[in-house]
Amino acid sequence: MPSIGKIESMPNRKLKICLIFGTRPEIIKLSPVIRALQARHVPYFMIHTGQHFSFEMDRVFFKDLELPEPKYQLMRKSSSANLHAEHTGHMMDAIEKILLKENPTDVLVQGDTNSVLAGALAASKIPGVRIGHIEAGLRSYDRQMPEEINRIVADHVSHTLFAPTKDSAAILLREGIEKKKIFVTGNTIVDAVIQNDKLADKKVSYEKWLNSADEPFFLMTIHRQENVDERLRLTAILKGVGRVADHFKTQVVFPIHPRTAGRLKHFGLSLPDRVRAVEPCGFLDFLWLEKRAGLLLSDSGGVQEEGCILCVPCVTLRTSTERPETVEAGANLIAGFNPDEILRCAKSIMSRRRNWRNPFGDGRSAERILKILSGASR
Ligand code: UD1
Ligand code: UDP
Repeated sequence: MPSIGKIESMPNRKLKICLIFGTRPEIIKLSPVIRALQARHVPYFMIHTGQHFSFEMDRVFFKDLELPEPKYQLMRKSSSANLHAEHTGHMMDAIEKILLKENPTDVLVQGDTNSVLAGALAASKIPGVRIGHIEAGLRSYDRQMPEEINRIVADHVSHTLFAPTKDSAAILLREGIEKKKIFVTGNTIVDAVIQNDKLADKKVSYEKWLNSADEPFFLMTIHRQENVDERLRLTAILKGVGRVADHFKTQVVFPIHPRTAGRLKHFGLSLPDRVRAVEPCGFLDFLWLEKRAGLLLSDSGGVQEEGCILCVPCVTLRTSTERPETVEAGANLIAGFNPDEILRCAKSIMSRRRNWRNPFGDGRSAERILKILSGASR
């Protein structure tokens, strides 16, 4: 794995690491880092912001990934989806008090959620605390996405930036971030997929999901605020997916994110015939489904990456991506939300050979991150 900043040999920097997270993708992508911290006996503690709180969005991942309990569990104040300032401010308030009490050497955040923004901003005002941003340098260049603002702020207040690819590191350099702060580590999602792939095969049986082991199916997820909170856009996406299902005469398994479930109910929308709604699943089940799906239809960041890693094609139900590596690899097409375009992209990507190269690393990203933290100079 190439590096931008130079990884020094470990001069045994004394660490006390604080991991801050609050949502499904953060738990999954931080799980390899937690394992690496445990294996190396590095002192650490975790703050769960409470952003995700339902069993199937939170606890199930601790169970599936056999993770220890966070030392601090915050409660989500508001269940309103879009009061971002209230939500972020509430988390910051609690995080600041904990950080002042615990005095960690490093705070690690992963990704682009409001939990990341709150963790990074709160830590940035605490003297002596170094902030590490895992999955740094991703840009969709679409500021309508709340996540784009979170990514930019987190990157610019961080001291150590763990970019998944050379391209994301180049974005950071172009934004004026010093070279010595940036490290290309790969994405910890590759570690998580490798660590859990065999376990998923062992623990999940096809009977749970399919009538027969070779029954064809596609897998769909949508949850982005800009997609599901707008009636017309959500309707168009469902129509497009329905057309794909009809064209290929294939059922679409659709684990529904709670935000999306709420919006479908609110708008009184029903799903196309071949689309089968299920509860959001744990990581082992989802990985099992992804690996066997003929096609992924999603607006998720993580699903685009996982399709690319598992060699399953993806049609992205958005107008932009902060993961252009997946498109360049040939694993992903950005369809937007026009039904004709969704069908066109599905036909096009289904006709491709699935022999692309995974651009997100070798599954040793967490190890690399710890090594860099140990060697980082103050
Ligand atoms: C959040 C992140 C998004 C990430 C996604 C991962 C922000 C701005 N958005 O979006 O970047 O891709 O998580 O899934 O941080 N809800 C529940 N139970 C839960 C979680 C959510 O019922 O466990 C419902 C609540 O009504 C909540 C709504 O879903 O208000 C939206 O949740 P929220 O965490 O605000 O945003 P997500 O859409 O989950
Ligand atoms: N995922 C899961 N169960 C589901 C849907 C997704 O375990 O029902 C996992 C998926 O494997 C990926 C992550 O959740 O690792 C993606 O999370 P999400 O799409 O919510 O957020 P994003 O990646 O868009 O931020």
